[in-house]
Amino acid sequence: MADSTTRILVVDDEPRICKLLTELLSREGYSVDTANDAAHALELLDQRPYEMVISDLKMPGMDGFELIETIKRNHPDVAAIMITAYATVETAVQALRHGTDDYVTKPFDINELKKVVGRTLDNKRLARQNQALADELEQARKELLKQNKQPAEAAENLLETNQRLRRTIANLSALHEIIQAITSLLDLKQLLDVCLTQINEKLSVESSSIMLLDDNRTHLVVRASSKAEIVGHRQRVGERISGWVAKYKEPLLIENINTGGRFRPSGYAGYHSNSLLSIPIMIKGKLLGVINVTDRKGDQPFTEDDTTFLAMVAGQLAVAIENARLYRELKQNSIRTVAVIADNIDAREPMTMGHSQRVAEHAVRIARALGLDENVYDVLRTAGNLHDIGMIGICNSILSKPAPLTDQEQTYVRSHSAKGDRILQSLGFLDRVRRIVRHHHEWWNGQGYPDGLKSEEIPFLSRVMAIADAYDAMTSGRPYRSARQPQEALAELERNAGTQFDPNMVAVFVKTHAEEIAARASSTDGTRAGIAIPPARTVGQLGEER
Ligand SMILES: [Fe+2]
Repeated sequence: MADSTTRILVVDDEPRICKLLTELLSREGYSVDTANDAAHALELLDQRPYEMVISDLKMPGMDGFELIETIKRNHPDVAAIMITAYATVETAVQALRHGTDDYVTKPFDINELKKVVGRTLDNKRLARQNQALADELEQARKELLKQNKQPAEAAENLLETNQRLRRTIANLSALHEIIQAITSLLDLKQLLDVCLTQINEKLSVESSSIMLLDDNRTHLVVRASSKAEIVGHRQRVGERISGWVAKYKEPLLIENINTGGRFRPSGYAGYHSNSLLSIPIMIKGKLLGVINVTDRKGDQPFTEDDTTFLAMVAGQLAVAIENARLYRELKQNSIRTVAVIADNIDAREPMTMGHSQRVAEHAVRIARALGLDENVYDVLRTAGNLHDIGMIGICNSILSKPAPLTDQEQTYVRSHSAKGDRILQSLGFLDRVRRIVRHHHEWWNGQGYPDGLKSEEIPFLSRVMAIADAYDAMTSGRPYRSARQPQEALAELERNAGTQFDPNMVAVFVKTHAEEIAARASSTDGTRAGIAIPPARTVGQLGEER
């Protein structure tokens, strides 16, 4: 028994045939509709689904061939059986050409009809199943291909992502190290040197330089370089590679200078590799300079990753440079401000006018005589100018008193070195300067103030300052005594060496300064000034005079 849902449409202009086939097929369990002509058949086909059409060949209007051809075109899944009165080979071939699946002949052999209908429907179902299987297979094949492809693509993407992440992490780590190394540096030269060393290490380059704009902003000047011989070299903005970067404020990556277009290798004499990278140092849209790197170890060209990394470094360097500049300005402003105060203190008593500045100069002279590094000169100049800043709270009547001070007054005056330290601390001065100021009245034998330090316990530069202070105090007049001659002052220093002063320092200063005095004297009157030995005096007065 066929499935009743299997719907068959019988098309014949003879109602008798329609009725007969309906009875036969219904008995077989099929659901049967009938149409007396092709037009009606096509209408029914448009209205409901059929699995099969059984059509007579000879019909008025559209014949069986044309109907089946139309059905196959519009409903390709519908099976079609042709009914013909004359079954010839030609008829059969023609029927198949028009898409007919099979045919039956009149008069009907009922069993034959059942077989043909059953076989055609089975074939059709089988074909549909085959098609479904083929579709499934195709889908499965596509899925399989997709699944096979996805892991490969995913693996590739994962690898690339991992590599990118590794590079990013490495770059961030390197950047962090550079930031750590440079952010606390306030000395510009040290800052640039450290930054350059870090860049060379992180990018594995042998040649690099940091150029900063000059005050006129017309030239870049090499401020730090792995090639010491080019430090100080000037490059006009707009010219050559770094000048181009400065002019357009854009990074420039040249993978191969030989094919780099407008920039010729001759402009980079001294570099060995072909790949160059130049990055502007910018802050708030303002150009500060340019970082150049070249000569990568292994001769690998620089990449976009390197450009990104160096641009981040340049950003941090710009902030550090700006911080160093602001600190320098702040420090200079503080020094100027405090120096003005110190001058005013000196000026309260006409005879001490310029004392602090002269002490600073003497201190530098002693440092030079002792062969100290030039980097302490600035520290000594600052400390010299500020060494008596603590006197700010001492009233004029004490400073100008034309007589020995009482014990109480003396204690008050002696508090000035510790007060000076506190004042400078509140102004943010470096420890080195504060220590000099605090201890410039300590004695070699430990009898000084404020902390009673002795010999090597006394900071080295404080010992220098003590000699400079005493020398200037002796060679300047005071309300209660006249100025001494330089030779007398030197002799007094020698007399107090080992008690108040560092004896070695005194020896060096006296020798050097005496030679200078003699040289000056011989250049003015041709005679050599002798060093007069003054009468002995009480230690404790030198250098702590008002
Ligand atoms: Fe002092």
